[in-house]
Amino acid sequence: MTAKDLRDKYINFFKDKNHVEIPNSPLVPENDPTTLFTSSGMQPLIPYLMGEKHPAGTRLVDSQNSFRAVDIDEVGDNRHTTFFRMLGNWSLGDYFKKEEIPWLWEFLTETLGLPKEKLFITVFDGFKKIERDEESYKIWADLLTKEGFVPEQKIFFAGVDKNWWSRSGTPDKMPVGEIGGPDTEVYIRFDDIEHTDECEGDSPVYCECGKFLEIANSVFMQYKKVTEEDFDPLPNKNVDFGGGLERLLAAVELKSDIFETSLFHPTIKTIEKETSKTYGENKKEMQIITDHLGASVFIILAGVRPSNKEQGYILRRLLRRAFDNFYTLSGKDITSIVDSVFEQYKETDEYLVSKYEEIRNVILEEERNYKGTLQRAKAFISKKYPETGDEIMGEKKTISSEDAFILYSTHGLSPTQIKSLGFDFDEQAFAKKMEEHQNLSRAGAQQKFRGGLADTSEKTVMGHTATHLLHKALRDMFGEDLHQTGSNITTERLRFDFNFDRKLEDDEIKKLEDTINEKIRENLPVHFEILPLEEAKKLGAIGLFDEKYGNDVKVYFVGDYSKEFCGGPHVDFTSKLKRFKIIKQENIGHGQRRIYAVVG
Ligand code: ALA
Repeated sequence: MTAKDLRDKYINFFKDKNHVEIPNSPLVPENDPTTLFTSSGMQPLIPYLMGEKHPAGTRLVDSQNSFRAVDIDEVGDNRHTTFFRMLGNWSLGDYFKKEEIPWLWEFLTETLGLPKEKLFITVFDGFKKIERDEESYKIWADLLTKEGFVPEQKIFFAGVDKNWWSRSGTPDKMPVGEIGGPDTEVYIRFDDIEHTDECEGDSPVYCECGKFLEIANSVFMQYKKVTEEDFDPLPNKNVDFGGGLERLLAAVELKSDIFETSLFHPTIKTIEKETSKTYGENKKEMQIITDHLGASVFIILAGVRPSNKEQGYILRRLLRRAFDNFYTLSGKDITSIVDSVFEQYKETDEYLVSKYEEIRNVILEEERNYKGTLQRAKAFISKKYPETGDEIMGEKKTISSEDAFILYSTHGLSPTQIKSLGFDFDEQAFAKKMEEHQNLSRAGAQQKFRGGLADTSEKTVMGHTATHLLHKALRDMFGEDLHQTGSNITTERLRFDFNFDRKLEDDEIKKLEDTINEKIRENLPVHFEILPLEEAKKLGAIGLFDEKYGNDVKVYFVGDYSKEFCGGPHVDFTSKLKRFKIIKQENIGHGQRRIYAVVG
């Protein structure tokens, strides 16, 4: 069974249960200031989990490309990747536990044929006013008893740390407005791995050694945090299921190391060949190279380019970590590994093929840039420490922690990179500087993202409607070839990117503002309709993304002025926006312009 077969089996299994397949959403989310990347299948569905009507109905299934930046430092073991495909099925107030749990078991054991004796279950143990999930326990217990198992040996209760899911983690970490719920998880046990001393008993709950691999997670998404202490029920009791395709494949192939599955193994083989080193002795480096290059390919595909900001910064970090690990293994030319990564994904993600040249060039150009950076860093050191001479590799030289920090903050080298250049420095003093630096950037980030979720804050919703007005006004002024290429909305301002290769003149800015303020004064009603794709196109509704849409689409109308494909949410009348003002414009390269504006 290839990764593609597995994915198709999953989608078909749920289609047979009357689910509608929805398309993969962009990896860089639109209109969500709280996160840089789509990191789970539920993320693009948040408005619908919160009660908005979904055009495709109440039973949905998909495979969502996901990226988790928080896991960058976790990569380098048998199970962590930053990029993965999340298989997901949703009930939007339709079915619940008594359907979801047996279906999940049927899919895992019959469709995929996983060995039942190796599967283990965890269930939510309760937290404050939210009760222990006895209902799921009973459904599992009945089902497993019928299968001839003793429930107590297969099902384990666990608290919020394990069996509660929200995008921000445990209830105390969730911002007000965030949704979450208890979950039930399925683990597979790999008998070739021995527990370490830290693991407690033969249960997946207290085991971090990799013997138990989580392969499936059904979240019963039914709460919204309303105050620091309290949760309200959502309008619907939803199911939000997620299972990593890569991990499910490892379970099917009974490989305790996902990098040894048929999906990743060919790339590992290529790295072995290019570096003349074995995987067995260099696992961590090869896992990082494989994961990070794979993630980079999809991030570049989403239109991101390496830079020092936001998504571009993450991409740069991934690529440079991949290069470093490759050089550590004495690798010279990374091209064939990039090619292998394309091979790895081209069956499941056919559209990658047409972008191959473009993506590969971005990676190779970043490699050239990085080599230049390393040269400049060496020049900086040779100048400051002339006694190091031209040849600074080889014997260790000690440099001051201040200079090490300049190499980090100005030249972008990590402490490991600095050391691999042959420099020693006071690590404690360096760590202290790093902490000061991180506190500063954290304060900046909090400032920027203050206000919580895009979808729940009134100001963000106002900004969202304003982007529709701006999009329409721009197209009326400059023609229909102009389209949105990105947007990001916070409570403080909205940001709108579009394809346009010159500066907007002052009178053009004024005209845009006047038009939009006129539409605000007209107090146009905003509503949506769910329409067949063709009909929506005929109406002239603006479709924003290259991604394929489903058969039915949701179109938001602002009076009869703007019609645009969109998931919402929006204000109900334009007068809520009060006033629109453009505060800044900038060139963001690649023939694209960015406008910052405020409303209210
Ligand atoms: N949203 C859940 C997850 O990402 C299913 O694990």
